[in-house]
Amino acid sequence: MEREKAIAFFDSGIGGLTVLFEALQTLPKENYLYFADSKNAPYGIKSKEEVHNLVKKAVDFILGKDIKALIIACNTATSVTIEDLRKSYSIPIIGMEPAVKPAVEKSEQNHKRVIVTATPLTLKEEKLKNLIERVDNEHIVDLLPLPELVPMAEEGKFNTIRAKEYLKREFAKFELSDYGTVVLGCTHFIFFKKIFQEILPSHIDVIDGNKGTITNLKRILTEKNLLNDSGSSNIEYFISMEKIPDSEASKRMEGLFKILKH
Ligand code: DGL
Repeated sequence: MEREKAIAFFDSGIGGLTVLFEALQTLPKENYLYFADSKNAPYGIKSKEEVHNLVKKAVDFILGKDIKALIIACNTATSVTIEDLRKSYSIPIIGMEPAVKPAVEKSEQNHKRVIVTATPLTLKEEKLKNLIERVDNEHIVDLLPLPELVPMAEEGKFNTIRAKEYLKREFAKFELSDYGTVVLGCTHFIFFKKIFQEILPSHIDVIDGNKGTITNLKRILTEKNLLNDSGSSNIEYFISMEKIPDSEASKRMEGLFKILKH
């Protein structure tokens, strides 16, 4: 029997696995392809042109596979390329959006401020600036780049003193009693969610946009009659164009998904 077309997830590295994890809860019967451009990570400190070229190359490769939708599971790549990609290809392409809107709505009610964390490139890009301009009428949003978290995640160093000290130092720049929400605007950061919660005062909510992306994916697949809700799911894992053996991929994903479950 022919295998059902897959849903592809793209990220500069392992961050997009946090989005795939969410997809597996909502759409467990789909086939998936995960592409980590780990050989070229991190993206967030590169120039816009470099990221644009890397994403274009990776997406051309991914679309050579049997794919029915593509998730750009990387805020940085989404900021730089999503409009261009949608113009160039006809399959559904879904990007990430930092959860600024829900954060602002909630914090306005509580008369608190919001910190949006992301890579330096995401924070510099028009896409985020436009989003903030659209939703932040009271000017309660502040920005915090956290470039060091992406390499730590790629090295598999999550629950470490180094990560904790780094985050403590960065958040010490803010009077935290004024803040109600911290937005994780980079998919790699979600692996550190517990540490964010640990070092931040308990009244601060730490939120991300993963659920929104997968709700969007499900809606689009339903509209286009592309949902697969029977059979079993398979995940193919590529690192910068090289397929890794299924047993190695399963082990890798199992370990990382475990961090997200707690
Ligand atoms: N996961 C990417 C993001 O969401 C990380 C970017 C990077 O490689 O620096 O922005």
